[in-house]
Amino acid sequence: MQRQKIAVVGGGLMGHGIAYLLAAAGHDVNVYEPAAATRASLPPRLQAIADLLGDDPALPQRIAIHDRLEPAVKGTRFVFEAAPEKLELKQHIFAELESAAAPDTILASNSSAIPATEIGRHLKQRGRVVGTHFWNPPHLVPLVEVVQNEKTTAETVQATMELLRDAGKAPVHVRRDVPGFIGNRLQHAMKREAIALVAAGVCDAETIDTVVKAGFGARTAVLGPMEQSDLVGLDLALDIAEVLYAHLDRTPGPHPFLREKVKAGKLGMKTGEGLRRWTPASAEAVRRRLSRFLAEQARASKTRSA
Ligand SMILES: NC(=O)c1ccc[n+]([C@@H]2O[C@H](COP(=O)([O-])OP(=O)(O)OC[C@H]3O[C@@H](n4cnc5c(N)ncnc54)[C@H](O)[C@@H]3O)[C@@H](O)[C@H]2O)c1
Repeated sequence: MQRQKIAVVGGGLMGHGIAYLLAAAGHDVNVYEPAAATRASLPPRLQAIADLLGDDPALPQRIAIHDRLEPAVKGTRFVFEAAPEKLELKQHIFAELESAAAPDTILASNSSAIPATEIGRHLKQRGRVVGTHFWNPPHLVPLVEVVQNEKTTAETVQATMELLRDAGKAPVHVRRDVPGFIGNRLQHAMKREAIALVAAGVCDAETIDTVVKAGFGARTAVLGPMEQSDLVGLDLALDIAEVLYAHLDRTPGPHPFLREKVKAGKLGMKTGEGLRRWTPASAEAVRRRLSRFLAEQARASKTRSA
């Protein structure tokens, strides 16, 4: 793909990873970050990604860091917004982008929950506004949900998918801007059931993690649920659904068990207890295990495509 000029708006957790992966794909990347301390932390954070992935140590220096929006987005083909999850703030940023960027620049939002339809509601050219929901960490997790809203044109979706595919991502087209898109709906449907099972005393939280990781999780990376249903046969899938679905949790809203945990200050690793108990060392071990696993996957995929 032709080298593109791209801006990332917000250089926090998601923004720095998005900037890195686009620079690694050979594009000219500018990052606009208003907070001085975060700007100063960008070079070492980008360097840490290069070290983790065994990339050219000079790669992060190709990313230009800006303290003003306008010069960062001038002349760009794409802008990826990764600012805090607040509707008013994002609307304000998109209004600024409308005047600072060219009229055909594609404006993508990495919002997790706010519909891009709302973010771009007051713009004149809404066909170029699209959702791009990256998964954390965006430089390691392949999936990006490319979310089409009411006004997004087919050309915008196509160009965005092409850019991301070329950068080694696995973009999928979400045809309607539904809450949670696809990935979070699936993930939270499972979490809802998991919490209900623990609350009912069927098992403890550790057992849930073992069942997922050692059971269907062991094959999920190579066998999706649709493939798996077709593999066993839809007649069997229907028989199971007939028996099981009536017993699945249907608590409207978050389960009281989850609400009670939060009310008691049991928030997870950051407080030492959530659904499971944590020490600083055991929490750090989980983070390290995850980062090492994802980095190995990313390196293996790069070797396969080289
Ligand atoms: N953290 C995740 O796991 C995750 C996953 C998917 C999507 N998202 C979404 O990505 C977006 C960014 O999340 P994050 O976790 O990187 O947050 P973050 O707080 O780490 O980063 C946001 C950055 O935006 C900067 N910022 C503040 N005001 C700004 C402005 N007016 N213009 C530009 N930048 C501004 C902040 O200084 C900060 O550095 C959010 O919409 C979030 O919902 C987050």
